[in-house]
Amino acid sequence: MVNIKVLENGPCLVMGDDVTLTDWNGVEYAVPKRPFALCRCGASTHKPFCDGTHAKAGFKAAEAAVPGSMDRSAKT
Ligand code: FES
Repeated sequence: MVNIKVLENGPCLVMGDDVTLTDWNGVEYAVPKRPFALCRCGASTHKPFCDGTHAKAGFKAAEAAVPGSMDRSAKT
């Protein structure tokens, strides 16, 4: 099972051993450790991974999930 946890003012933490991360061509990234964190602020120098820069950049994104609500998803 995979769980992706959105951290307050930080990255998305991906937890699970049976998950791969690929680019738009389907090429797999080497995941340095597990769990791993994906940048959500856009400031990481190691995208798509979080390198902790969000803290220095003052990234603020504290929107929490609302139980029972239907959040909009991005078009893909
Ligand atoms: S979320 Fe950590 S560097 Fe972007």
